[in-house]
Amino acid sequence: MDSLSIKGGVPLHGEVAIGGAKNAVLPIMAASLLTAEPCVIRRVPRLSDVSFMGQILTSLGARVNLDGDTLKIQAVKIKGVGDYDLIRKMRGSICILGPLLGRLRRASVSLPGGCVIGPRPIDLHLKGLSQLGARIIIEGGYVRARAQRLMGGEVFLGGRAGPTVLGTANVMMAAVLAEGVTIIESAACEPEVVDLANFLSAMGARIVGAGSPTVTITGVKELHGAEHEVIPDRIEAATFAIATAATNGEVTLLDARPDHMHAVLDKLRESGVKVERRGSALTVKRGGQLKPVDITTLPYAGFPTDVQAQMMVLMTLTPGISIITERIFESRFMHVSELARLGADIAIEGPSAIVKGGRPLSGAPVMASDLRASAALVIAGLVAKGTTQVKRIYHLDRGYEKIDDKLKRLGARLGRMEES
Ligand code: EPZ
Repeated sequence: MDSLSIKGGVPLHGEVAIGGAKNAVLPIMAASLLTAEPCVIRRVPRLSDVSFMGQILTSLGARVNLDGDTLKIQAVKIKGVGDYDLIRKMRGSICILGPLLGRLRRASVSLPGGCVIGPRPIDLHLKGLSQLGARIIIEGGYVRARAQRLMGGEVFLGGRAGPTVLGTANVMMAAVLAEGVTIIESAACEPEVVDLANFLSAMGARIVGAGSPTVTITGVKELHGAEHEVIPDRIEAATFAIATAATNGEVTLLDARPDHMHAVLDKLRESGVKVERRGSALTVKRGGQLKPVDITTLPYAGFPTDVQAQMMVLMTLTPGISIITERIFESRFMHVSELARLGADIAIEGPSAIVKGGRPLSGAPVMASDLRASAALVIAGLVAKGTTQVKRIYHLDRGYEKIDDKLKRLGARLGRMEES
């Protein structure tokens, strides 16, 4: 397992191009199962999650070919069984359930299991699909779904933590080939859901209201192939913006979508960070003394849970008390104990982390636990005095394409080390 060794104290300077959004490309790849015709997806980031999804689609019988950042997928003949060994590697693969039901009217997909940030249930996915007529049983660790006919209907996808992103994706991808009209209430509004809806519409689906809590889908007989360019990754952009502010540098993010980042940019500005927008470029730099902020993670367009860990690092550098409350996942504070090893003073009180900021961080070996916690530890290492070794950075490679190369080009002093 590789680790990153980072020498702290170097402000980041320069430009960085933001890649395609991981959380858009994964369901869009799954949606290509809905047609026997070829699909072309552009601006695909080179991530281990993308190659896992490619392996899963291949195991289902699709032809998958990645050339540079362009993915060609053709699912002429597919089987309806998603293999446990592949599915368990990536929770996001549950989003093959909807398209398999839509295309084949049957699917057997391994239950994804939980991960370090929480149990990751799929009850809302299954509730939504059964409201379209699917008969679903859980057997031997698999979801087995069958539908004589998929009928459009009213589906409510609100759960205890709000809407479900991939649950909305799954129901949308089954409903596009159902008979009649489906109305999804309490649909997720994330930009990645809108990007999926745009791809499905390019395939001939009839969808109105994506990006709002009410999405109306009129089923069609079949879908055709399509080409699509994935939206930029707003979480990668937020991660680089926070790393810039944390290291007191100045970086321009190219090909970003500031209109997908209002909550993050608002909190950065409130904390004293200067963010200037010129079209799709965002220039970020610290504008003087950082100020403490309070953050609560919410469904979109609220502050994204996927940026919570990174923002916590910035708050450890900020004199004063900041309170960060995680409302989406049950245990998304795995980074707190590792940040404490670098000298951060953070107390957890239920769903909130109370950050007493202002004490400088000092380097130490730390352990990555999940994708966004790893990103937070890298940002902390860029700032901490001395050297920080972030172990198990395979977590990082799942969702950030060549982040070490991109940081090096911005002046960071770091190297990837093979771990015995
Ligand atoms: C997506 O996960 C993202 N992953 C996550 O990003 C992101 O954190 C999450 O949405 C929230 O924005 C992908 O898109 C691949 P949810 P998803 O269903 O769809 C509960 C990253 O770092 N829930 O919106 O799996 C659930 O437990 C990853 O890139 C139910 O109760 O998340 C959670 O508390 C991490 N029942 C909340 O809803 C269900 O059936 C939101 O989950 C489904 C979800």
